[in-house]
Amino acid sequence: MPVKVLFVGDIVGRPGRKALNKFLPGLISDYAPHFVIGNAENAAGGYGLTEAIAQELLAAGFDLLTSGNHIWRREFLPYLAKAEKVLRPANYPAGAVGKGYAVLHKNDKKLGVINLEGRVFMRSLDCPFRIGLALAEKLKEETPCILVDFHAEATSEKLALGWYLDGKVSAVIGTHTHVQTGDERILPEGTAYLTDVGMTGIRDGVIGMRKDHAIELFLTQVPRKLEVPKTGPKKLEAVYLEIDEQTGKTQKLVRIRKED
Ligand code: FE2
Repeated sequence: MPVKVLFVGDIVGRPGRKALNKFLPGLISDYAPHFVIGNAENAAGGYGLTEAIAQELLAAGFDLLTSGNHIWRREFLPYLAKAEKVLRPANYPAGAVGKGYAVLHKNDKKLGVINLEGRVFMRSLDCPFRIGLALAEKLKEETPCILVDFHAEATSEKLALGWYLDGKVSAVIGTHTHVQTGDERILPEGTAYLTDVGMTGIRDGVIGMRKDHAIELFLTQVPRKLEVPKTGPKKLEAVYLEIDEQTGKTQKLVRIRKED
């Protein structure tokens, strides 16, 4: 029996949480994943995460929440510092609170998860390639089944990390850009790769936010906070993986989109 994983793309604000309520139970019954993981860095109002929303998501069926550059809300840091089931990218410098990897156990199944953040058009963090490889080697002592959430802007950096870790981890799945790409494949050494898994939230916005706000921002260049729309059709985007328990190679990869 392979290790079965459902990984849900960036959950954006209340519409994202509503889309989960609508679509996640059906996906769980269709695919019967051993582990459900989601990127939740924008789950609270479109920016960051709160303790209450983290707990709501974990209660809704997630085994682990990953994140990225938006996880650092000041009031969230005390929770992040001790949270077992919320990751922040592993390649922040020493001293940053929280942890960047985990090994999940359920029944007799194990899955290692590594969260990394890219550096192209983003913060100048420690090297995600070197840290990703070192963590993959460390987690391999516990299990060959390892998923990487690479929260990054540039497609080139994401694809390069996929090739770099091919055969070293089971999957490199991109997040952060919120637009699902159609380039899913299993690389020659058995690593599942997808440049961006997409997002879970409002369908007719701009990466989960109000389109009128985004258009105004681009027209005027006057900085403004983008808000999450209150109503409108929603979608959930995800990827489902089946990983060989003995080798850690991915056998099956399904890109998923559900929408109103
Ligand atoms: Fe992000």
